[in-house]
Amino acid sequence: MARKIVVTSGKGGVGKTSVLASLGISLANKGKNVLMIDGDIGLNNLDVVMGMESRVIYDMADVIENKCHINQALLQEDGIGLYLLPSAHAYSSDKLSAQSFRELIGRIENTFDFILIDCPAGIDAGFHRAVSCCDEAILVTTPHIPAIRDGDKVLGLLRSYKLNAVNLVVNRVRGDFVVTGKMMSGGEISNILRCPLIGVVPEDDAVTVYSQLGRIGMNSSSSRDAIDMIARNVLDNTNKIYDVTRGHRGLIGKLKRLVSGR
Ligand SMILES: Nc1ncnc2c1ncn2[C@@H]1O[C@H](COP(=O)(O)OP(=O)(O)O)[C@@H](O)[C@H]1O
Ligand SMILES: [Mg+2]
Repeated sequence: MARKIVVTSGKGGVGKTSVLASLGISLANKGKNVLMIDGDIGLNNLDVVMGMESRVIYDMADVIENKCHINQALLQEDGIGLYLLPSAHAYSSDKLSAQSFRELIGRIENTFDFILIDCPAGIDAGFHRAVSCCDEAILVTTPHIPAIRDGDKVLGLLRSYKLNAVNLVVNRVRGDFVVTGKMMSGGEISNILRCPLIGVVPEDDAVTVYSQLGRIGMNSSSSRDAIDMIARNVLDNTNKIYDVTRGHRGLIGKLKRLVSGR
């Protein structure tokens, strides 16, 4: 049976969808069968981020209304075991109950190793629908106070769901700022939120899914390495976290800051 993980956040725009899509790619590249589900009913985001938007023929609503078999609605990424179930575009969010969503996932959970659900923003019915069908959660935050504060509220709610695990990913961390004390580190945020840290992702212009898929001809990027470490933590509890301060410490770091004026 698949491990069902909801990727959630307090604030929108912190990188939830980017982290989920990149994690899905990384797990699939490690040989796992991964299904990504857009939990934002009525709005679609994940198919756009994955560059699959133009391939959508059937979506979640068609599956629920028995207009197609679920396999017809799944979009597969070339060459790897990575699939996407597109959001129900024609539905308003309140038309899909948590129970129908759970039943839908129940139909396919034996086919996959992982089901990753992109939680909609907010803490209303859409949040409940996405969280209540999962057994694990990843909270994504940035190192900024409003995002951390809203993340704390979501953690409080997540703790009432009896999940097997609730872990933290801190996204968009700048190593140069952490070294100079202008930004909190992933470890500090994990302590404040009292939530185990499974990953830190640096601020990286090459964070797009295209770079993760190797579609823009980039063999490596800092965010790609960081996401890979998250995938290994999810798979094997390796407890290794990407070090964003590497290259920013010591004399070299100081010289770099002097040159850039930071
Ligand atoms: N580590 C990062 N470095 C730089 N930009 C990022 C990073 N993570 C996400 N972004 C950018 O932030 C924006 C919001 O990300 P997104 O994944 O859509 O957030 P959410 O799903 O939480 O609303 C996107 O433009 C994305 O490319
Ligand atoms: Mg999103």
